[in-house]
Formats: sequence, structure tokens, C-alpha cells
Amino acid sequence: MNYDFDKIIDRRGTNSLKWNVPKEELPMWVADMDFEAAPEILRAIMDRAAHGVFGYSVVPKEWNDAYAGWWERRHSFRMDPDWLLFCSGVIPAISGVIGRLMKTDEKILIQPPVYNGFYHVIERSRRELVESPLIYDGESYEMDFEDLEQKLADPKVSLMLLCNPQNPSGRIWTKKELKQVGDLCAKYHVLVVSDEIHCDITDPGYSYVPFASVSDTCGDNSITCIAPTKTFNLAGLKTAAVMVPDKELREQVKKGIQANEASEPNAFSVDAAIAAFTKGEPWLEDMRAYIWENKKCVENFLKNELPQVHMVSGKASYLVWLEYSLLGEKRNFSSFLRKHAGLYLVDGKEYGENGSSFLRMNVGCPRSYVLEGLMRLKKGVELFESKRSNVDWNSTFPVL
Ligand SMILES: Cc1ncc(COP(=O)(O)O)c(C=O)c1O
Repeated sequence: MNYDFDKIIDRRGTNSLKWNVPKEELPMWVADMDFEAAPEILRAIMDRAAHGVFGYSVVPKEWNDAYAGWWERRHSFRMDPDWLLFCSGVIPAISGVIGRLMKTDEKILIQPPVYNGFYHVIERSRRELVESPLIYDGESYEMDFEDLEQKLADPKVSLMLLCNPQNPSGRIWTKKELKQVGDLCAKYHVLVVSDEIHCDITDPGYSYVPFASVSDTCGDNSITCIAPTKTFNLAGLKTAAVMVPDKELREQVKKGIQANEASEPNAFSVDAAIAAFTKGEPWLEDMRAYIWENKKCVENFLKNELPQVHMVSGKASYLVWLEYSLLGEKRNFSSFLRKHAGLYLVDGKEYGENGSSFLRMNVGCPRSYVLEGLMRLKKGVELFESKRSNVDWNSTFPVL
């Protein structure tokens, strides 16, 4: 391994959303990583900073080429660089698409448990939500195609938000499944927005399928959101792209992003994205291997020490989806854990009703945090089971 992912970097005092928590808490919630960015990206940012002038920026052709090159090399998908539009984030892009392309009385379909930002963007856009819950078989999630078709057939449903790969479960959708989604959406004239922000972080040996690559039907009837922000831990730089093969649709999307005032890059977002997608591969390979080890660490620990908590072994992302229904509890275990064990995970119900007996743990962090988090989880479970809630946990755990 050429990069030091074990390195502890104190993020407190940097206005970090994740670490803006009391000092005795270990935050393993929001989806950013505690790793330093790749040296090649740091170099690009420092060079830009050293220039010292930070006026308005444009998006050069190198930016389009960097994305197109990456998707061809890493995901065997050849896109025309001109299909890409800059956007300052995936959520601003989705919000712009909704605002521009949907009538106010039209509905949006999602498949819970799914990224909570989907709920928020739909609510803020004041559109009606339609849910087609995924089916959980105790190990993994499947789409319920019968239910999906029934919901898509509602003439008021005009857009489907697809999470590919899936957050929070880490499920990678197969080509066959994506084709089925694409065919159904085309049949009922429902536009697909495929959020592929987690696509690069897959377990070694696994890769994802870009929705637009599946067929012409999928490509022509879709808008794909991609970014270097999860892959390279750059969320605070606000840099993403929207890929729209169809020219007329692309013009509409462009106007939607502009209407949201999200079409202009900041002084660092272009250079960082170009460095990431042209020079970031060696770092990403090591990071994927490290994350996989972290996931193994969680899996083994739970098997050996805490069988009451079950890990759903999705093959994508640094997010681990933990089922705790064996504790005999359906709800609110997350607030108990946070209060009594100082472990901040996301409550599964944030991702929809069927996420209620789950927790999402972010293992995009040094292994020592993962081990500490697991110890806290174990102690939290023990306490929960014994109902000894009068222990002073703040004095029990080391301050990180
Ligand atoms: C599936 C998914 N989409 C979008 C986002 C947010 O993207 P952005 O910060 O570019 O708006 C996240 C962040 O966690 C995510 O998990």
C-alpha cells in the first residue's frame, strides 16, 4: 500500500459537518471519509491556491475529457465528452432537473431504503413522492418489479430517482435489473435520473454498470449524475457532473441547473476533478482495498462478538448497513447508542420506513476508528440488553 490510510487526522476545528459533535462522540455517520485526499489532487489544489487570484472560473474541455477518459478506462463506457454538464453537486442537479422537467402536480418514484437526500430534495421541490420499497431477504435487497411497474403506470409519475449503486445497502444493480428498470420507465414515459455518485468505490473484483450503458433506451431516457466527490473525498469542493446523451434533454437539464444557480465552478472544483480523474487511480485502488479490509473487520467482529447485529454485505461504497432487529427492537437504538456509547451512526429510518431496524455505519476512516466504533457498538448493545442506562459512558471512552 502506497498511501497511509491509517493516519489519524484531527478534523475537529475545521468546520467539518461530520466532526461537529461533542468531543466524546465518535462520528461514523455522514458520507465523507476521514482520509487525506490523494497527493495528486492536493498538488493541483495547492498549485491553484498558490496562484493567488480567485476570480470567476470557466469549465475547460480538459474537464469533459477527464470524465470521459475515466468512464472509458474504469467502467468500459464510452461517452461523448459533450454530453457532460458541470454542476456544483448531485443534489443541486437533481433539484434543477425536477424544477425544469416536471410539472408541479407530477410525482417522483424512489425505492427505499434509499439515500435520505432524495426525500429532502423531493420535499423541497414540493413534488409528491411515490415509494416502491426494495425487498429484503435477510441478506440483500431486490427490486420489486411487479410493484415498480404498478407505480410507474400512474400517469402522474414522470421521474424515477435510481441510486446506482445503492446507498445505504451497497447493492450493485446488475445489467439485467437495470435493463428491466429502463424498459419499464420507457414504457410508461418516466424519465430516469441515475445517481451514480458511489460507483467507483466497489469491493476489489466488483464493478458497477452505468445505467446509460445498458441500452439505447436507457441512454436516451436518462440523466446520470456523477462526481469525484465520494470517490476521492472531495465533497466540500462542490464539484459534480450531469451526463445526458440526448441533446434536447441536455438543453433542458442545462437550463434547470442554471435556474438553480449551480452551473458555475468555484476556483478549485475543476482542477480537483481533472486531477482526480486523470491521476487518481493508484490512490483509489489502495483506498478500495483498505475499505474492503475495514468492511471485513466489521463482518468478522459481528460474527464473532456481536451476532445480534447483522451486516448486509453490499459490494459498493464505504457505508455498512447493519440490521439490529435481533435485539428485539425496531426503533431508536441509534439515539441510545449515541447517548450511552458515544457512537454516532445514522438511524436506518432516515432512509425510509423499511430502514427502521437498521443502522448505517461509515467505515471510510482509519481502521483504529472502525475498531473503536465496534467496541462502542458492542458495549452499547450490552448496555441496551441489560438496560443499565446509568453508566457514565463519557468517562469510559477515550477522546478521539
Ligand atoms: C447517493 C447520493 N447522492 C448524492 C449525494 C450528495 O451529493 P452532492 O454532495 O454532490 O450533492 C450523496 C451524499 O451522501 C449520496 O449518498
